[in-house]
Amino acid sequence: MSSELTFRGHETQQVNDEYSPKPNKPWLSEIRPIRYMLREQRLVFVLIGIVIATLFFTLAPSSSSTSSSSSSFPTVRYEPHPISYFEHESKPTPYQQRSAVVHSFGKVPLGLKRKGLRIVVTGGAGFVGSHLVDRLIERGDSVIVVDNFFTGRKENVMHHFRNPRFELIRHDVVEPLLLEVDQIYHLACPASPVHYKFNPTNVVGTLNMLGLAKRIGARFLLTSTSEVYGDPLQHPQKETYWGNVNPIGVRSCYDEGKRTAETLTMDYHRGAEVEVRIARIFNTYGPRMCLDDGRVVSNFVAQALRKEPLTVYGDGKQTRSFQYVSDLVEGLMRLMEGEHVGPFNLGNPGEFTMLELAKVVQETIDPEAKIEYRPNTEDDPHKRKPDITKAKEQLGWEPKVDLHTGLPLMVSDFRQRIFGDHKEGGTVA
Ligand SMILES: NC(=O)c1ccc[n+]([C@@H]2O[C@H](COP(=O)([O-])OP(=O)(O)OC[C@H]3O[C@@H](n4cnc5c(N)ncnc54)[C@H](O)[C@@H]3O)[C@@H](O)[C@H]2O)c1
Repeated sequence: MSSELTFRGHETQQVNDEYSPKPNKPWLSEIRPIRYMLREQRLVFVLIGIVIATLFFTLAPSSSSTSSSSSSFPTVRYEPHPISYFEHESKPTPYQQRSAVVHSFGKVPLGLKRKGLRIVVTGGAGFVGSHLVDRLIERGDSVIVVDNFFTGRKENVMHHFRNPRFELIRHDVVEPLLLEVDQIYHLACPASPVHYKFNPTNVVGTLNMLGLAKRIGARFLLTSTSEVYGDPLQHPQKETYWGNVNPIGVRSCYDEGKRTAETLTMDYHRGAEVEVRIARIFNTYGPRMCLDDGRVVSNFVAQALRKEPLTVYGDGKQTRSFQYVSDLVEGLMRLMEGEHVGPFNLGNPGEFTMLELAKVVQETIDPEAKIEYRPNTEDDPHKRKPDITKAKEQLGWEPKVDLHTGLPLMVSDFRQRIFGDHKEGGTVA
């Protein structure tokens, strides 16, 4: 049997409880939030909160700190360079239009942090690239390293692996690649003399990266080289000098490859409105250089540490200038953020003969180290020294670290990699 509950009371109840709304008071709903704020000293707490937030954002250090991240870098401070992509140009390029939408570089209100960029560094696992990556990450940018590990090493960037703003792609830039970024630092290149031959990276790789920059409206920076001056007939070398390069010599694949890369870069700039920057890098040294890639500073340091004689080619009177890597990275970043295309010489004008360099290495590592002379290599330039007037004037840049300061930092890193110990090779004030 189903049970049926029936309430019967309503049959006798008076139906006199009709809903009658209270008289409408519109002013009451408007002052309710004000009354709420005035109660229990809420307004006082809100005001205190505003004061604390203002103090915090005003006193907090800017995200665009330019100090070096690596303990191997001497403490060198550079004046911040104004970021201004829009001056002196009438028609905005695709990069400027894109930047205006995605990032407002113009005026960042006091206390607000600059929005991080998305940046590709090709060759970012190499010597220079990995130091550049350190600085970009430190500045707050998101970085994608594209590297085929031809001469680069994972160890150079491993300390970023847990950082969500860091990505590493194993890729050969002679194959096309599609990525969405704001800037491309194109460093990928077998840079040392022993890897010069048969390599299409400078031409095909540069073409691919320029194509990418055009497609996505990114700014593109090429790391060219002082080798474009060949065996120079002008000394020191200015950017206006066209060079003296042997097109069919043993070094030509590198020299002419970079010259072609510069040509392609300027063609994309003029013909396809790609925003480009060109750096001509002079000899650079520092921690994370390849141990045995045939470059003179790494050669001497590794030989002295291993108690082998220092190999000097020719009479040792040929000159070079040596730039510490943190100076170069600062120059590259200023160039990328600045408003000048270049090319710019980035190097240290301090000039040393090979024998003088050998002497500094002996003083730093082993005064007993012997020197061994060998016949000079073909097409070895007799003199190299950058004229950096243009970079000083237009980028506000000049190197700060001299050889006697920078070399011990490199020695310390080499010592650790060769012997696996942690002894300091020298200290820097
Ligand atoms: N260090 C110097 O003294 C110096 C001087 C002049 C110019 N440069 C230029 O600076 C850039 C960096 O040089 P570095 O000294 O760091 O050399 P590096 O050899 O340490 O770094 C080059 C990086 O590019 C990578 N790479 C090479 N070919 C590649 C390819 N096809 N695809 C992807 N990745 C590739 C290598 O694996 C390596 O990680 C180079 O373009 C070089 O020509 C350097």
